[in-house]
Amino acid sequence: MSEKLRSSDWFEAKGKLGFYHRSHTKSEGFPNDLFANRPVIGIGASWSELAPCNAHLHDIAQSVKAGVWEAGGFPFEFPTLALGETLMRPTAMLYRNLAAMEIEELIRSNPLDGIVLLVGCDKTTPAAIMGALSCDLPTIILSGGPMMNGSFRGETVGSGTDLWRFAEDVRAGVMAEEEFVASEACVSRSAGHCTTMGTASTMAVISEALGLALTGTSTIPATDGARRTAAHIAGRKIVELVRMDLRPSQIVTRRSIENAIVINAAIGGSTNAIVHLSAIAGRAEVELDLADFDSLAKEVPTIVDLKPSGRFLMEDFHSAGGLPAMMVEIADLLHLDEMTVTGQSLGENIAGSKNYNTEVIRPRQAPLFPAGNATVVLHGNLAPNGAVLKLSAASPELCIHSGRAIVFDSIEEFNSWADDETSDVTASDILVLRYAGPKGYPGMPEVGNLSIPKALVKSGLRDMVRISDARMSGTSFGTVVLHVSPEAADGGPLALVETGDVITLNVEERRLDLEVDSEELSARRSRWTPPDYRGESGYVSLYRSHVLGAEKGADFDFLVGRRGAAVPRRPT
Ligand code: FES
Repeated sequence: MSEKLRSSDWFEAKGKLGFYHRSHTKSEGFPNDLFANRPVIGIGASWSELAPCNAHLHDIAQSVKAGVWEAGGFPFEFPTLALGETLMRPTAMLYRNLAAMEIEELIRSNPLDGIVLLVGCDKTTPAAIMGALSCDLPTIILSGGPMMNGSFRGETVGSGTDLWRFAEDVRAGVMAEEEFVASEACVSRSAGHCTTMGTASTMAVISEALGLALTGTSTIPATDGARRTAAHIAGRKIVELVRMDLRPSQIVTRRSIENAIVINAAIGGSTNAIVHLSAIAGRAEVELDLADFDSLAKEVPTIVDLKPSGRFLMEDFHSAGGLPAMMVEIADLLHLDEMTVTGQSLGENIAGSKNYNTEVIRPRQAPLFPAGNATVVLHGNLAPNGAVLKLSAASPELCIHSGRAIVFDSIEEFNSWADDETSDVTASDILVLRYAGPKGYPGMPEVGNLSIPKALVKSGLRDMVRISDARMSGTSFGTVVLHVSPEAADGGPLALVETGDVITLNVEERRLDLEVDSEELSARRSRWTPPDYRGESGYVSLYRSHVLGAEKGADFDFLVGRRGAAVPRRPT
């Protein structure tokens, strides 16, 4: 432990100031002897009834507290911004940076020596990691765990993935509206986050892959008693980490981020992980290029057979041995000497872990998808700064494809067109959505997996090439090119596409090109006018002024990097 606890500046101060800090805190019922020489642990719970995936986190916090007391610490639970994916508009992503900033500032401004951050729904995990990295005090990330497996009419159903399927079935007239409504409570059956390998599950796994979560904790179902046990142990462990002074800056390095990228490929993780890991790298002051996601994943087979790419759900993944068992399968691709919050290396953590179900965690020789089928990074004259495509969710026959572009400037415009059964759209057309990037929408919503037009869905078509500067839910599937950068609102070439232009997608060559000559593109550029945001105020105005491109993680330019835990003072 560093000689003096950070919290002693508050609680062991003499005179008026010490009185002030202790007196009000004692009103919560704490005896005097707790205020000296005890690591003060903040338990930040992103709890809210408006964020159903995180609604149980206040309960989980009580188990963390028990562990902190037991280890001789002094726990304080505090609320952090709860970002619920399902209810927030226009998109929870608009507020990820706000949550990260809130967490960083709450940690720094309070008498804390160590922190356990309780997370669940998609954006709460990257926000917590980003905030913790910038402040850099000993931190453990603890996810709330996935919901129980969904079950509807005898079929196992997963969050998001089966909703998208059912919705298309309703549009195609093969599922009744009443059945659709009846399935709602059967998909979401308990506390916890989405059951599929969507963004929440991916980011929980990534927090463990980075070394910030205790071994094996990222997959434990929310309602499993083991989730509370993990919380109790996290409470004990954070006190130990304070005594060791083990900080995120010693854990999140270029090599641990490489581990996370490899693991994201092996689990068939969400495309959103690319945006969040890019932002995390920025906070950790690690150089990371979008192309790194492609090159590092090239040798990695997808071996976890979970929806949306495969068949099973998170509960099955946990029963099969969870992340440690999966890491053993690809141990030679990982930097096993990386330090973690267990106080041991990744290799020490996973030694001896066993795979109990080779259907769920497939052996390397029989992967779900062979190496090179994870998320690929595309460049070309349509995406000079890059774009991504999740190959394991795409149709192989569409991965090399040229087609006529049909262009939309908003998701609302697309939605009303998509339901028009008289349109002349064909299966080989390419749907283009723009002004849906970080700045354009704002917040880069998950609308990139545009619905198949009604005129085609009735004939049984379930996939076509779609391109946008938006994101898509980690539970989605299809040949969907996302995160095109620069975004249209920043004057990226996407803004210059016209309906009728030909676009070529060539995954093999990692290219995305607009087949229009440069003279014509220059003429279009001279006619293009940027969106007018004058008159905007409040948070949205701050967001649009400072958000970086998708390839930089859509963080705020002024939040990149570490600022440390020192309380700001007037310059002398
Ligand atoms: Fe919260 Fe999926 S909606 S994790």
